[in-house]
Amino acid sequence: MIVDIIVDLQYGDCGKGKITHFLCKEHKYTHVVRYNGGCNAGHTIYHEGEKFVTHHIPAGVFFGVKSIIGPGCVVNTEKFMQELEMLESKGISARNLVKIAKNTHIITRNHLNEDGLDTKIGTTKRGNGPAYRDKYDRNGVRAEDVPQLSEFLIDFYEEMHQEGVIALFEGAQGFGLDVDWGDYPYVTSSHCTAAGALLNGIPPQAVRNVWGVAKAYETYVGTKNFQGEDPVFDEICEVGQEYGATTGRKRQVNWFDWNLFHKAFNINGVTHLVINKMDVLREVDAWKVKKGDEIYDLGAENMFKHFIGDSLSQTGATIYFSGDKARI
Ligand code: IMO
Ligand code: MG
Repeated sequence: MIVDIIVDLQYGDCGKGKITHFLCKEHKYTHVVRYNGGCNAGHTIYHEGEKFVTHHIPAGVFFGVKSIIGPGCVVNTEKFMQELEMLESKGISARNLVKIAKNTHIITRNHLNEDGLDTKIGTTKRGNGPAYRDKYDRNGVRAEDVPQLSEFLIDFYEEMHQEGVIALFEGAQGFGLDVDWGDYPYVTSSHCTAAGALLNGIPPQAVRNVWGVAKAYETYVGTKNFQGEDPVFDEICEVGQEYGATTGRKRQVNWFDWNLFHKAFNINGVTHLVINKMDVLREVDAWKVKKGDEIYDLGAENMFKHFIGDSLSQTGATIYFSGDKARI
Protein backbone atom coordinates (compact mmCIF):
# COMPACT_ATOMS: atom_id res chain seq x y z
CA MET A 1 0.00 0.00 0.00
CA ILE A 2 1.17 3.51 -0.83
CA VAL A 3 -0.40 6.48 0.95
CA ASP A 4 -0.07 10.23 0.36
CA ILE A 5 -1.62 12.51 2.98
CA ILE A 6 -2.83 16.09 2.64
CA VAL A 7 -2.85 18.13 5.86
CA ASP A 8 -3.74 21.72 6.58
CA LEU A 9 -1.03 23.46 8.65
CA GLN A 10 -3.20 26.32 9.94
CA TYR A 11 -6.86 26.75 11.00
CA GLY A 12 -8.57 25.10 8.05
CA ASP A 13 -9.48 26.71 4.74
CA CYS A 14 -5.94 26.66 3.39
CA GLY A 15 -6.91 25.20 0.02
CA LYS A 16 -6.82 21.47 0.63
CA GLY A 17 -9.55 20.90 -1.96
CA LYS A 18 -7.46 22.57 -4.61
CA ILE A 19 -4.40 20.45 -3.82
CA THR A 20 -6.46 17.25 -3.65
CA HIS A 21 -7.84 18.06 -7.07
CA PHE A 22 -4.36 18.78 -8.40
CA LEU A 23 -2.87 15.56 -6.99
CA CYS A 24 -5.72 13.41 -8.31
CA LYS A 25 -4.98 14.76 -11.75
CA GLU A 26 -1.24 14.06 -11.43
CA HIS A 27 -1.21 10.64 -9.77
CA LYS A 28 -2.90 7.36 -10.44
CA TYR A 29 -4.65 6.88 -7.12
CA THR A 30 -6.87 3.87 -6.62
CA HIS A 31 -8.61 5.51 -3.64
CA VAL A 32 -9.21 8.95 -2.14
CA VAL A 33 -10.09 8.83 1.55
CA ARG A 34 -11.47 11.36 4.02
CA TYR A 35 -10.03 10.44 7.40
CA ASN A 36 -11.36 12.92 9.98
CA GLY A 37 -14.21 15.33 10.65
CA GLY A 38 -17.63 15.48 9.04
CA CYS A 39 -19.65 18.05 7.16
CA ASN A 40 -18.02 20.84 9.20
CA ALA A 41 -15.45 20.75 6.38
CA GLY A 42 -16.02 22.77 3.23
CA HIS A 43 -13.66 21.87 0.41
CA THR A 44 -13.89 24.13 -2.60
CA ILE A 45 -12.94 22.56 -5.88
CA TYR A 46 -12.94 24.00 -9.39
CA HIS A 47 -13.50 21.18 -11.82
CA GLU A 48 -13.66 21.82 -15.56
CA GLY A 49 -14.45 25.46 -14.86
CA GLU A 50 -17.26 24.78 -12.42
CA LYS A 51 -17.21 25.46 -8.68
CA PHE A 52 -18.07 22.64 -6.27
CA VAL A 53 -18.13 22.75 -2.48
CA THR A 54 -17.99 19.30 -0.87
CA HIS A 55 -18.44 18.57 2.82
CA HIS A 56 -18.45 14.80 3.16
CA ILE A 57 -17.50 13.27 -0.16
CA PRO A 58 -13.81 12.97 -1.07
CA ALA A 59 -12.57 14.62 -4.26
CA GLY A 60 -11.75 11.32 -6.00
CA VAL A 61 -15.26 11.30 -7.51
CA PHE A 62 -14.22 14.06 -9.92
CA PHE A 63 -11.69 11.67 -11.46
CA GLY A 64 -13.62 8.40 -11.38
CA VAL A 65 -11.62 7.21 -8.35
CA LYS A 66 -13.15 5.24 -5.50
CA SER A 67 -13.84 7.74 -2.71
CA ILE A 68 -14.09 6.54 0.84
CA ILE A 69 -15.30 8.08 4.06
CA GLY A 70 -12.98 6.47 6.59
CA PRO A 71 -13.72 5.26 10.11
CA GLY A 72 -12.13 8.39 11.63
CA CYS A 73 -14.96 10.52 10.21
CA VAL A 74 -18.49 11.24 11.38
CA VAL A 75 -21.35 11.28 8.87
CA ASN A 76 -24.69 13.04 8.65
CA THR A 77 -26.77 10.64 6.53
CA GLU A 78 -29.13 13.29 5.16
CA LYS A 79 -26.31 15.68 4.22
CA PHE A 80 -24.37 12.83 2.64
CA MET A 81 -27.35 11.90 0.45
CA GLN A 82 -27.93 15.54 -0.52
CA GLU A 83 -24.31 15.95 -1.51
CA LEU A 84 -24.43 12.81 -3.59
CA GLU A 85 -27.50 14.09 -5.42
CA MET A 86 -25.93 17.51 -5.93
CA LEU A 87 -22.87 15.91 -7.55
CA GLU A 88 -24.95 13.57 -9.71
CA SER A 89 -27.15 16.46 -10.86
CA LYS A 90 -24.04 18.33 -11.98
CA GLY A 91 -22.82 15.37 -14.03
CA ILE A 92 -20.33 13.85 -11.55
CA SER A 93 -21.03 10.12 -11.31
CA ALA A 94 -20.45 9.71 -7.61
CA ARG A 95 -22.99 7.08 -6.59
CA ASN A 96 -20.95 4.06 -7.61
CA LEU A 97 -17.66 5.47 -6.37
CA VAL A 98 -18.54 6.62 -2.86
CA LYS A 99 -18.15 4.17 0.00
CA ILE A 100 -18.43 4.52 3.77
CA ALA A 101 -16.50 2.40 6.27
CA LYS A 102 -19.09 0.46 8.23
CA ASN A 103 -17.50 1.51 11.54
CA THR A 104 -17.75 5.25 10.77
CA HIS A 105 -19.85 7.07 13.35
CA ILE A 106 -23.09 8.88 12.61
CA ILE A 107 -24.12 12.46 13.39
CA THR A 108 -27.67 12.10 14.69
CA ARG A 109 -30.53 14.60 14.92
CA ASN A 110 -29.78 14.96 18.65
CA HIS A 111 -26.14 15.80 17.92
CA LEU A 112 -27.25 18.47 15.48
CA ASN A 113 -29.72 19.96 17.93
CA GLU A 114 -27.15 20.04 20.71
CA ASP A 115 -24.39 21.59 18.57
CA GLY A 116 -26.93 24.08 17.23
CA LEU A 117 -27.01 25.66 20.71
CA ASP A 118 -23.22 26.20 20.87
CA THR A 119 -22.08 29.71 21.74
CA LYS A 120 -18.77 28.84 23.44
CA ILE A 121 -16.59 27.64 20.54
CA GLY A 122 -18.33 29.05 17.49
CA THR A 123 -18.67 25.62 15.89
CA THR A 124 -20.06 25.07 12.43
CA LYS A 125 -23.16 23.63 14.19
CA ARG A 126 -22.87 20.43 12.16
CA GLY A 127 -22.97 18.14 15.19
CA ASN A 128 -19.31 17.13 15.19
CA GLY A 129 -18.46 17.59 18.87
CA PRO A 130 -21.46 15.65 20.23
CA ALA A 131 -20.96 12.85 17.64
CA TYR A 132 -17.32 12.32 18.62
CA ARG A 133 -18.18 12.61 22.31
CA ASP A 134 -20.73 9.80 21.99
CA LYS A 135 -18.27 7.72 19.98
CA TYR A 136 -15.69 7.89 22.77
CA ASP A 137 -18.40 7.51 25.40
CA ARG A 138 -19.34 4.23 23.61
CA ASN A 139 -22.87 5.45 23.01
CA GLY A 140 -22.55 6.19 19.31
CA VAL A 141 -24.43 5.00 16.26
CA ARG A 142 -22.32 3.61 13.40
CA ALA A 143 -22.90 3.59 9.66
CA GLU A 144 -23.63 -0.14 9.76
CA ASP A 145 -26.62 0.65 12.02
CA VAL A 146 -28.26 2.87 9.37
CA PRO A 147 -30.27 0.91 6.73
CA GLN A 148 -30.27 3.91 4.34
CA LEU A 149 -26.47 3.63 4.07
CA SER A 150 -26.28 -0.13 3.49
CA GLU A 151 -25.55 0.14 -0.25
CA PHE A 152 -22.45 2.27 0.48
CA LEU A 153 -20.87 0.26 3.28
CA ILE A 154 -17.46 -1.39 3.08
CA ASP A 155 -15.04 -3.09 5.40
CA PHE A 156 -12.24 -0.53 5.42
CA TYR A 157 -9.54 -3.06 6.30
CA GLU A 158 -10.44 -5.39 3.45
CA GLU A 159 -10.70 -2.51 1.02
CA MET A 160 -7.35 -0.95 1.80
CA HIS A 161 -5.20 -3.96 2.58
CA GLN A 162 -5.24 -5.41 -0.92
CA GLU A 163 -2.56 -5.54 -3.61
CA GLY A 164 -1.89 -2.37 -5.54
CA VAL A 165 -3.63 0.24 -3.36
CA ILE A 166 -2.35 3.80 -3.88
CA ALA A 167 -4.44 6.13 -1.76
CA LEU A 168 -4.67 9.85 -1.17
CA PHE A 169 -5.85 10.75 2.32
CA GLU A 170 -7.58 14.12 2.32
CA GLY A 171 -7.46 15.81 5.73
CA ALA A 172 -10.15 18.15 7.01
CA GLN A 173 -9.82 21.20 9.31
CA GLY A 174 -6.24 21.99 10.26
CA PHE A 175 -3.40 21.81 12.77
CA GLY A 176 -4.56 24.90 14.72
CA LEU A 177 -7.96 23.20 15.17
CA ASP A 178 -6.61 19.77 16.11
CA VAL A 179 -8.12 18.47 19.35
CA ASP A 180 -4.65 17.84 20.85
CA TRP A 181 -2.43 20.44 19.17
CA GLY A 182 -4.80 23.31 18.49
CA ASP A 183 -5.72 26.19 20.80
CA TYR A 184 -7.95 24.12 23.12
CA PRO A 185 -10.90 24.51 23.66
CA TYR A 186 -11.17 26.50 20.39
CA VAL A 187 -10.65 23.37 18.37
CA THR A 188 -12.62 20.74 16.49
CA SER A 189 -13.16 17.26 17.93
CA SER A 190 -10.98 15.16 15.64
CA HIS A 191 -7.34 14.53 14.78
CA CYS A 192 -6.29 16.79 11.89
CA THR A 193 -2.64 15.71 11.68
CA ALA A 194 -1.03 13.08 9.44
CA ALA A 195 -1.29 10.75 12.45
CA GLY A 196 -5.07 11.09 12.13
CA ALA A 197 -4.84 9.33 8.78
CA LEU A 198 -2.94 6.43 10.36
CA LEU A 199 -5.67 6.03 12.97
CA ASN A 200 -7.87 4.80 10.12
CA GLY A 201 -5.89 1.57 9.99
CA ILE A 202 -2.91 2.56 7.87
CA PRO A 203 0.55 1.23 8.75
CA PRO A 204 3.14 4.04 9.12
CA GLN A 205 5.44 2.39 6.56
CA ALA A 206 2.81 2.92 3.87
CA VAL A 207 3.14 6.71 3.94
CA ARG A 208 4.99 8.11 0.91
CA ASN A 209 4.40 11.87 0.91
CA VAL A 210 2.81 14.30 3.33
CA TRP A 211 1.53 17.41 1.57
CA GLY A 212 1.29 20.31 4.04
CA VAL A 213 -0.94 23.14 2.86
CA ALA A 214 -0.78 26.66 4.31
CA LYS A 215 -1.88 30.13 3.25
CA ALA A 216 0.39 33.17 3.09
CA TYR A 217 -1.53 34.55 6.11
CA GLU A 218 -3.74 33.06 8.83
CA THR A 219 -7.51 32.90 8.91
CA TYR A 220 -9.77 31.47 11.62
CA VAL A 221 -13.51 31.13 12.13
CA GLY A 222 -14.92 30.80 15.64
CA THR A 223 -15.59 32.76 18.83
CA LYS A 224 -12.05 33.54 20.01
CA ASN A 225 -10.62 36.94 19.23
CA PHE A 226 -8.13 36.27 16.45
CA GLN A 227 -7.97 39.17 14.04
CA GLY A 228 -5.02 41.57 14.44
CA GLU A 229 -5.37 45.36 14.83
CA ASP A 230 -4.09 46.38 11.41
CA PRO A 231 -6.88 47.58 9.04
CA VAL A 232 -5.12 45.70 6.24
CA PHE A 233 -6.68 42.49 7.60
CA ASP A 234 -10.14 43.63 6.42
CA GLU A 235 -8.61 44.29 3.03
CA ILE A 236 -7.04 40.81 2.95
CA CYS A 237 -10.43 39.35 3.87
CA GLU A 238 -12.09 41.06 0.91
CA VAL A 239 -9.33 40.48 -1.63
CA GLY A 240 -8.95 36.85 -0.53
CA GLN A 241 -12.72 36.30 -0.29
CA GLU A 242 -12.28 34.91 3.19
CA TYR A 243 -15.78 33.71 3.94
CA GLY A 244 -16.48 30.18 5.20
CA ALA A 245 -17.39 27.59 2.56
CA THR A 246 -19.65 25.77 5.04
CA THR A 247 -21.29 28.55 7.08
CA GLY A 248 -20.56 31.70 5.06
CA ARG A 249 -19.05 33.35 8.17
CA LYS A 250 -16.38 36.03 7.75
CA ARG A 251 -12.98 34.59 8.56
CA GLN A 252 -10.78 36.54 11.02
CA VAL A 253 -7.37 37.35 9.55
CA ASN A 254 -3.89 37.67 11.00
CA TRP A 255 -0.26 37.47 9.86
CA PHE A 256 1.40 34.18 9.02
CA ASP A 257 2.28 32.53 12.34
CA TRP A 258 5.86 31.32 12.14
CA ASN A 259 5.79 29.32 15.39
CA LEU A 260 2.54 27.55 14.58
CA PHE A 261 3.84 26.77 11.12
CA HIS A 262 7.03 25.12 12.33
CA LYS A 263 5.21 23.05 14.89
CA ALA A 264 2.66 21.92 12.30
CA PHE A 265 5.39 21.23 9.76
CA ASN A 266 7.42 19.08 12.13
CA ILE A 267 4.58 17.19 13.80
CA ASN A 268 3.06 16.28 10.44
CA GLY A 269 6.39 15.31 8.88
CA VAL A 270 5.70 17.41 5.79
CA THR A 271 7.58 16.34 2.66
CA HIS A 272 5.85 18.71 0.21
CA LEU A 273 4.76 22.18 1.24
CA VAL A 274 2.25 24.38 -0.56
CA ILE A 275 1.78 28.06 0.31
CA ASN A 276 -1.47 29.27 -1.22
CA LYS A 277 -2.87 32.72 -1.88
CA MET A 278 0.45 34.48 -2.36
CA ASP A 279 -1.34 36.72 -4.82
CA VAL A 280 -3.58 38.15 -2.10
CA LEU A 281 -0.59 39.56 -0.19
CA ARG A 282 0.82 40.81 -3.46
CA GLU A 283 -2.39 42.69 -4.14
CA VAL A 284 -2.49 44.40 -0.72
CA ASP A 285 1.31 44.62 -0.72
CA ALA A 286 1.77 43.58 2.92
CA TRP A 287 4.39 40.95 3.67
CA LYS A 288 4.52 40.36 7.39
CA VAL A 289 5.12 37.36 9.58
CA LYS A 290 4.42 36.88 13.29
CA LYS A 291 6.96 35.11 15.47
CA GLY A 292 5.78 35.01 19.08
CA ASP A 293 4.79 38.58 19.95
CA GLU A 294 7.06 40.10 17.30
CA ILE A 295 5.91 41.07 13.82
CA TYR A 296 8.53 41.14 11.09
CA ASP A 297 8.03 43.15 7.93
CA LEU A 298 10.04 41.20 5.40
CA GLY A 299 8.94 42.47 2.03
CA ALA A 300 7.85 40.17 -0.75
CA GLU A 301 11.30 39.04 -1.73
CA ASN A 302 12.40 37.86 1.69
CA MET A 303 9.25 36.68 3.28
CA PHE A 304 9.23 33.10 2.15
CA LYS A 305 12.76 32.73 0.93
CA HIS A 306 14.14 33.74 4.29
CA PHE A 307 11.68 32.30 6.76
CA ILE A 308 10.39 29.18 5.15
CA GLY A 309 13.16 28.44 2.71
CA ASP A 310 15.87 28.31 5.37
CA SER A 311 14.06 26.04 7.72
CA LEU A 312 12.96 23.73 4.94
CA SER A 313 16.42 23.27 3.53
CA GLN A 314 17.21 21.15 6.59
CA THR A 315 14.34 18.75 5.97
CA GLY A 316 14.64 18.46 2.22
CA ALA A 317 10.95 19.20 1.70
CA THR A 318 9.82 20.56 -1.63
CA ILE A 319 8.02 23.89 -1.59
CA TYR A 320 5.41 25.28 -3.98
CA PHE A 321 3.92 28.76 -3.97
CA SER A 322 0.57 29.38 -5.55
CA GLY A 323 -1.80 32.22 -6.26
CA ASP A 324 -5.32 31.95 -7.56
CA LYS A 325 -7.00 33.81 -4.73
CA ALA A 326 -10.59 33.04 -5.59
CA ARG A 327 -10.16 29.34 -5.71
CA ILE A 328 -10.15 28.15 -2.09
P1 IMO B 1 -12.09 22.71 6.33
O1 IMO B 1 -11.88 21.22 6.18
C1 IMO B 1 -12.26 26.11 9.01
C2 IMO B 1 -13.82 25.43 13.08
C3 IMO B 1 -15.11 26.09 13.50
C4 IMO B 1 -14.86 26.26 15.00
C5 IMO B 1 -14.09 24.98 15.36
C6 IMO B 1 -14.96 23.86 15.92
O2 IMO B 1 -13.00 23.29 5.33
O3 IMO B 1 -10.79 23.43 6.42
P2 IMO B 1 -16.66 22.18 14.77
O4 IMO B 1 -17.91 22.45 13.94
O5 IMO B 1 -15.63 21.43 14.04
O6 IMO B 1 -16.98 21.59 16.12
O7 IMO B 1 -16.08 23.66 15.07
O8 IMO B 1 -13.49 24.54 14.14
N1 IMO B 1 -13.89 24.60 11.85
C7 IMO B 1 -13.34 24.95 10.66
N2 IMO B 1 -12.72 26.10 10.27
N3 IMO B 1 -12.35 25.10 8.14
C8 IMO B 1 -12.93 23.93 8.52
O9 IMO B 1 -12.88 22.84 7.74
C9 IMO B 1 -13.50 23.84 9.81
N4 IMO B 1 -14.17 22.88 10.49
C10 IMO B 1 -14.37 23.36 11.73
O10 IMO B 1 -15.30 27.32 12.84
O11 IMO B 1 -14.01 27.33 15.28
MG1 MG C 1 -13.09 25.06 4.40
